[in-house]
Amino acid sequence: MFELIVQNEIVGEIVFSIAPDGFGVINLIEVKPNCRGKGFGNQLLNEAIAQLKCQGVKGIRLTPIKTKTPFIVDWYKKKGFVLNRDRMLLTF
Ligand SMILES: CC(C)(COP(=O)(O)OP(=O)(O)OC[C@H]1O[C@@H](n2cnc3c(N)ncnc32)[C@H](O)[C@@H]1OP(=O)(O)O)[C@@H](O)C(=O)NCCC(=O)NCCS
Repeated sequence: MFELIVQNEIVGEIVFSIAPDGFGVINLIEVKPNCRGKGFGNQLLNEAIAQLKCQGVKGIRLTPIKTKTPFIVDWYKKKGFVLNRDRMLLTF
């Protein structure tokens, strides 16, 4: 888990893990509502991807929650994730 702290305030967090099949999993990403749209989500996601890559995962998967954030699938696609049913997968 990473927390992003700006001027002594936690502005967002990302939780990720490595599944037994060797894939990384993004379990949660959230930026405080009043801090969104400023690039903090990108910082959190980029850092988690880099860390998981460093740890040698085969890829990364997640389940996007579209109801909370309509642009979420497009954002992950820009990072290289591919949508398959209700899951998204990034392979290296
Ligand atoms: C998803 C979330 C973490 C993004 O955090 P953020 O700090 O707002 O994201 P950023 O400012 O780094 O923007 C990320 C991208 O989304 C785009 N974006 C941000 N707000 C947007 C909006 N309202 N409409 C369309 N696109 C938007 C940005 O342009 C950026 O695109 P880029 O990578 O091409 O530059 C944040 O919206 C959030 O906490 N949502 C609620 C929780 C949630 O839905 N979590 C994900 C569940 S799978």
